[in-house]
Amino acid sequence: MQIYTKPEELRRLRHELTLAGKTLAVVPTMGNLHDGHLSLIEKAQSLADLVICTIFVNPSQFGPEEDLDAYPRTPDADLTALRRYHVDGVFTPGVEGMYPPGDETRVTVPALSERHCGAVRPGHFTGVATVVCKFLNMIQADFAVFGEKDFQQLAIIKRMVTDLFIPTEIHGAPTLRADDGLALSSRNAYLTGDERQRAPDLYRQLVLARDRILQGERDFEGLELSAQDALVRSGWRPDYFSVCSQQTLQPASATDTDLVILAAARLGQARLIDNLTLNLKG
Ligand code: PAF
Repeated sequence: MQIYTKPEELRRLRHELTLAGKTLAVVPTMGNLHDGHLSLIEKAQSLADLVICTIFVNPSQFGPEEDLDAYPRTPDADLTALRRYHVDGVFTPGVEGMYPPGDETRVTVPALSERHCGAVRPGHFTGVATVVCKFLNMIQADFAVFGEKDFQQLAIIKRMVTDLFIPTEIHGAPTLRADDGLALSSRNAYLTGDERQRAPDLYRQLVLARDRILQGERDFEGLELSAQDALVRSGWRPDYFSVCSQQTLQPASATDTDLVILAAARLGQARLIDNLTLNLKG
């Protein structure tokens, strides 16, 4: 597995692959790889001849009060996992490499960023869109794969790529869950033993809300409030629980058919996010 740290090396790789008529997929990550990431890699491997991952804990997507310093960093274990998964290369830039002195351009996708995680974490999605835009420009991959667990992030990246004519095809990969339903996430590492037992509550509330909508419930606000109440009663601090249109991420209306229920809530030190999509056609 090749380790790349400089954009020039990526440009050379892209040039060689183009000459050889080969395709390239990228899986951007912040490291601390778990099975969820590995399923993104499998998806990337099904799409392209070569796969590279990025590992970069991106400071610009963390707010001043957030967990940038505490964010789990496991570089040796990550490289071992990537080798085991036959990933062809990994790009591990430093902060100065991604944000050199004088850097000031930022990418913003305002409407899709205004609610949900964007409202609770001001500036977060500008940080994500900016770093992903930099990666896509540097790597010039044919495909990029992101987890559907971060539904809002994926929607924002798809919008950005369309709006900026970035010639990389964006793919989502389904959320991987533990047997009890908890979505795999690096932030699950913050859960204590007792919190880990209670962590599937968030998914259970999503399933309950989804089932009630499928049974004909259209009082979305009522559903949102009862899910939040249930979470509060079991010791969570919900940030949001929202039934939305998949396209706009605005609150769903009775005529929307492609829905997504987005949720984020805090349990102890961990802030967990999850979602479920549902389609009401037919
Ligand atoms: O989802 C993530 O891990 C990050 O937000 C990403 C897309 C790698 C950008 O830093």
